Amino acid sequence: MSQPQLKVNGHSRDWLKRRFPWVYPNELVKGRGRPGQVVRVVGPNGGFLGVGVADTGWLAARVYRFDEGSLDAQWMSRVVERALALREALIEENTTAYRLVNGENDGLPGIRVDRWGHFVCIVADTPAVGGLVPLLVAALEEQLAPRGVYLAYRPDPRDDRDASRFHPPPGLISGRAAPGAVRVLERGLSFDVYPAEAPDVGLYTDMRDLRAWLEPRWGGARVLNTFAFTGAFSVSAAYNGASEVVSVDLSGRYLDRAQANFGANGLDPSGHTFVESDVFKALDRLRRTGERFDRVILDPPSFSHSDRVWSAKRDYPRLVRAACAVLADGGWLIAASNQGTLSPSAFRKFILTGLRKSGCDGQLLYGATQAGDVPALLSFPEGQYLKIGVYRVLRS
Ligand SMILES: C[S@@+](CC[C@H](N)C(=O)[O-])C[C@H]1O[C@@H](n2cnc3c(N)ncnc32)[C@H](O)[C@@H]1O
Repeated sequence: MSQPQLKVNGHSRDWLKRRFPWVYPNELVKGRGRPGQVVRVVGPNGGFLGVGVADTGWLAARVYRFDEGSLDAQWMSRVVERALALREALIEENTTAYRLVNGENDGLPGIRVDRWGHFVCIVADTPAVGGLVPLLVAALEEQLAPRGVYLAYRPDPRDDRDASRFHPPPGLISGRAAPGAVRVLERGLSFDVYPAEAPDVGLYTDMRDLRAWLEPRWGGARVLNTFAFTGAFSVSAAYNGASEVVSVDLSGRYLDRAQANFGANGLDPSGHTFVESDVFKALDRLRRTGERFDRVILDPPSFSHSDRVWSAKRDYPRLVRAACAVLADGGWLIAASNQGTLSPSAFRKFILTGLRKSGCDGQLLYGATQAGDVPALLSFPEGQYLKIGVYRVLRS
């Protein structure tokens, strides 16, 4: 039986020819597949462009092959093999937590795979890719032999379907369940993660290269880690010689996990401070009490709902300004944004605006994006989402 065909307009054809893997609904000229249906994508004149999987959300199709092959076990095995080969070349021996397959950027649109020690989590953007999951699990079992495989969904904010009703249902889909916490290593440091809570298991590995760069540079520093989450930066700073680390987060539960991560590395959490608070309120209190830090880390989420919804444009410059007020002269601002829709130039502008409003200037010491196991495919501009800058802040 021949595959259903989706005919796209010239704009989409040009992008697909450059191996961009998404087809938007408004680019369809003829045909519309059911979610999960394997489709042939053709141009306005009927010329073959690729083999994809149809969806009915904010995307009409994701394209997996740009040749006339099928989406079979052999194809999936090759996708996983190529992805694993990169990580084998890249990941240090003392690291057991990292991205194994980075969606579009590794030839598997809509699906990411993370390794958490002996366990693996598959995170899908949409139930439309569910038909590929058994092939993926088989390839992972053959090439990696994980103890257990979990499936989770992280629908794009543009997808208004109810994720709790997605199929296949999330949870353990193969092998044994993780025993609650799983202890993983990042460059020799221990962190407890919870695969059953995927997609947010308790560690963001895309920041690993930044932590590696900072590792030899914490000595004697007084550190303020805002949006501290489970304390990956806090633990790394304390372990590598910071004199004191103050971790601030809205969530007491995450701060408890941060303290447990201190303990997992033989660090006494009572020698450090954990503040359950909104970051702006905490920064204001620290300024009023005259506290000064040598390093301030700012890594806000793309969305936050404390008093109001976070807006990078309005809140990032404010955040930088509030951080400058508690930074010692010559202190370092370690700033990041994982908001994909924010361009690197807009990010720099927000930092500069915040510094100027504080009467400060900054020297860029280190600029980076996500770690290499979260590669960004050049033909997929959306792939590079993380912006990182370390600035030495100078008062005029
Ligand atoms: C992107 S994560 C930070 C990741 C962390 N820097 C790391 O690498 O492990 C965002 C964190 O910000 C916290 N958060 C969100 N809004 C906040 C607010 N207004 N004040 C304090 N923390 C907030 C969340 O609870 C979450 O732990």
